[in-house]
Order: sequence, then structure tokens, then C-alpha cells
Amino acid sequence: MSITFLLNGETRTVTVQDPTQSVLDWLRAEGFTGTKEGCNEGDCGACTVMLSDAQGARALNACLLMLPQLHGKALRTIEGIAGPGGVLHPVQDAMISHHGSQCGFCTPGFVVSMATAHLNGRRDHDDLLAGNLCRCTGYAPIIRAAEAVADRPIPDWMHDPALTLPEISSGGEGAAEGGGQPPFLPTSADALADWYLAHPDATLIAGATDVGLWVTKQLRALPEVAFLGGCTDLATITPEVGGHRIGACVTIATLRDWAQDRHPALAELLRRFASEQVRQAATLGGNIANGSPIGDTPPALIAMGATLRLRRGDARRELPLETYFLDYGRQDRQPGEFVESVWIPDSAPDLACYKLSKRFDQDISAVCGCFNLTVEGSKIGSARIAFGGMAGVPKRASAFEAALIGQPLTEAVIEAALPALTQDFTPLSDMRASAAYRLEAAQGMARRYIRARLGQPVSVLEVQP
Ligand SMILES: Cc1cc2nc3c(=O)[nH]c(=O)nc-3n(C[C@H](O)[C@H](O)[C@H](O)COP(=O)(O)OP(=O)(O)OC[C@H]3O[C@@H](n4cnc5c(N)ncnc54)[C@H](O)[C@@H]3O)c2cc1C
Ligand code: FES
Ligand code: FES
Repeated sequence: MSITFLLNGETRTVTVQDPTQSVLDWLRAEGFTGTKEGCNEGDCGACTVMLSDAQGARALNACLLMLPQLHGKALRTIEGIAGPGGVLHPVQDAMISHHGSQCGFCTPGFVVSMATAHLNGRRDHDDLLAGNLCRCTGYAPIIRAAEAVADRPIPDWMHDPALTLPEISSGGEGAAEGGGQPPFLPTSADALADWYLAHPDATLIAGATDVGLWVTKQLRALPEVAFLGGCTDLATITPEVGGHRIGACVTIATLRDWAQDRHPALAELLRRFASEQVRQAATLGGNIANGSPIGDTPPALIAMGATLRLRRGDARRELPLETYFLDYGRQDRQPGEFVESVWIPDSAPDLACYKLSKRFDQDISAVCGCFNLTVEGSKIGSARIAFGGMAGVPKRASAFEAALIGQPLTEAVIEAALPALTQDFTPLSDMRASAAYRLEAAQGMARRYIRARLGQPVSVLEVQP
């Protein structure tokens, strides 16, 4: 197959031999060696590139991006950040004047992230740069450089005018050419549904932030793949009675923006989901479909009472999200069936989400606890409490919930109910945390929730005497 995209403003048509080849490998083989390889697993940001389409520009990790995902889009690498004749981008200028670089290995990634933030008018640099790792310079001069240019005008060359060309903006299907099984690039959920029914063993690739690692770290060959990025109808958020329907291909970044005013606790949890580069690629559907026991969205959505819509051909079924996760590595999904959307209720004012990980930013949860208790009169009327990292699947704390319902919302009641958590969970010990630590942390989260509800909120970012 061949794909067409803009590379630093110039149209490129490329024959794809291996659909799972990373953009990072391709760029470096083509001589664009400014984009660095550090971890090759989405953690360091040395490979950050800018990818633009009709939805805007975003910083992504090239090591987790596969070549077909470029089709119809504009790619800008560090080589395309300076202007004609080598005029420096304001961000590059500021990195020099603020001494933001020493060994420089991280610098191309930082500059691309900062130039993307500058283009988008974003100023939350601590969050935006959490996925760019610097081991020499330290973050203070880099953040100072980012802040210094926030009000400088966007250079002309950073706009990609050719994006309006039909062959670039169409995002259409690539022509089948070249070796191997051509990947399927559907442009609608209907097309995906028909094809997946006929190819149930194929691998669906949405953001590739999980699947990318199967290739780069496990060296897995994926004989047949479909890229979901062109299914724009799976990337919509639609109001419905009592809630919103979130398409499977909505990214974590978009979900976070959407949740900001509606569900601040969910938005705050998503701020700590991976890094900007991963959030801009990762989808809600991928986070659920992968069945991971430590995915961050399932516990929150289960605590909110979300439902999942699965689709197989033209048949759709809707189930409470918690029932989708059957056992470790096993989900309630049939061959040829895919995640189409998630329904999230509009009202969850008492939701709180606590993510415990070794680092605040850019880390996977050891335990993620999400609480949603409603009070009717003076008693707990309903309880939805779900944890990630406490079992082989994201799971509700049913015994704990039962011990709370009908009781007054007090610390003493929570203390008395806490032992029920041991009926709900027998956590594992692994490199992230021991079983005992996990259980204790879960109990600590329950105490924290009740104190917050009783007017004594705890900020884990503050050191208190
Ligand atoms: C550096 C790094 C940090 C991370 N940090 C976090 C974190 O903090 N919290 C967290 O929860 N996760 C984290 N992840 C994991 C990952 O980003 C998420 O699980 C993400 O949501 C996966 O979405 P995706 O679109 O990239 O999925 P993909 O990689 O494209 O796919 C994942 C799986 O889901 C399947 N799939 C995708 N879409 C569908 C669909 N619509 N229907 C059926 N199957 C589908 C794929 O076939 C595959 O099995 C991190 C990953 C990396 C690399
Ligand atoms: S090489 Fe580290 S994030 Fe890509
Ligand atoms: S300057 Fe060396 S890693 Fe950042």
C-alpha cells in the first residue's frame, strides 16, 4: 500500500512494506536523525514529533506511531521546526538564551513538544512536558524557556497550508501496493464492522500506545491489522438522555478536556494518565478493550455507572462496564466484535478518583481507587466503588459497598466496613507494589474519600506539619 502525507511541509508518498513499522524507524532510515530514540516505549519523549490534521496539531511519540497512521496528515519533525534559511523558531531561541540544553539528547523532543504547545496556545507546561525526560539540564530552565515565548507570534512556517489539498485532507484509504497483507484503513464504523466480521483474527489498532509496544518490545509480527484512526464517527462525543456517548476512538486528551467542567475528578485522574504524547494518541476504547487490570479509565467509569456498547457486524449490545472484565486477560467480547462507545452519566458529583503510582507524572497505577457514594437523608443511599490494581481485572468492591449502604456517612462507619475489602480483593504482589501495600493503600483511599466528604480534603501534593 502507499500512503500520502506532508513531511515538514512537503508532500511525500511512501510505499509501506511493513504496516507496523514505527515512524521513528522510518524517519531515521530516511536520514531524519534529529528525532532521537531513547526508550522506544513511549516513556522519554526523545522521539516527539508533531502530527496535524483537521482536528489540530498534537505532539506524539514517533516510536509508538505506525507508518499508516500518517496517511492524510501533516508530520513535522525537529528538522521542520526552524524556518526557511535556518531562522530559529522562538522556542529554539529561548532554549538557547535560557540554557535549556546540555547533552542535547532530549532537546529535539522538548523543542517539538514546546513548539506544539506554542502553536496551540497552551501554557500548562508542567503537564505538557511531563512526557519529555531530561537527565542533564533539569526542568527549570526548559520551563522558563517555554514561558518566555508564550506570547511570541506563531511563525508563518508552522502553519501547514497544504493540509487543504484534497489528497492530504481526505484521510482516505491507502491504495494496496507493495508487499505483505495491506492494512485496512476504514473510514467509518460500518466499514470496520463489516471487515472485522470477515477478519476476526485481525488486530485492531487505535492509538497504538499498547500495540506499539507489542511490536517494539515483544517483537511480535501482526499479520493482519486495521487502523481505526480514520473512523471519525467513532471519535465523537454525543449528548444523550442523562448522559453522553463517548466514541471508542475519542482520545484520552479529548476525554480529559470534555470532563474538565462536567466531571472534574475524572479530568484530574486523566491529567495523570501517561503523558501528553500518549494521551493525544491513546483512546478510551483501547484502554477498555485491552482488559488491563491497571487501566485508569475503567475504575472511574465503573464507579460512575458507565455502560459499554459492543458491536459485531450490525448487532449491538450494551452492558454495564464492570461485567465486561471477566478474568485476567479475558473479556466479554466475541470474535469480530469491537468496542463502539461508552455511555457516561452526566451526574456523578460525589465521584473521587485516587491514583497511586511511584511517580506523580507519567506512571502506571499501582492502585487506582474510585469512589461514588450518594447520601439520601442522613444515610448512604448508593455506593459504587471500584479499584484497579487490586485484582486481575478492574473490579467493584461489592462487599465493602454492601457494608456501607444504609449507614450514616461517618468515619466510624467506614472504619467498621474496611475489613470487607479483604473479601473483595486478594491483590497480587508485583514490581509495582506488594499485596499488603495495595490493601493498605486501598483502605487509605477510602479514609481519604470519607474525610474529603466530611470537609477535610487531603492534598497529597502538600507536606503538612
Ligand atoms: C508510556 C506509556 C504510559 C502509559 N500510561 C498509562 C496510564 O497512566 N494509564 C493507563 O490506563 N494506561 C496507560 N498506558 C497504556 C495505554 O496508553 C492505554 O491502555 C491506552 O488507552 C490504549 O489505547 P490505544 O488507543 O493506544 O490502544 P491500542 O494500543 O491501539 O490498542 C490496545 C488494545 O485494544 C484493542 N482495541 C483498540 N481499540 C479497540 C476497539 N475500539 N474495539 C476493540 N478492540 C480495540 C487493540 O486491538 C489492542 O488489543 C500507557 C502506555 C504507555 C506506552
Ligand atoms: S523513544 Fe522514548 S518515547 Fe519514543
Ligand atoms: S540535556 Fe541531556 S538529557 Fe536533557
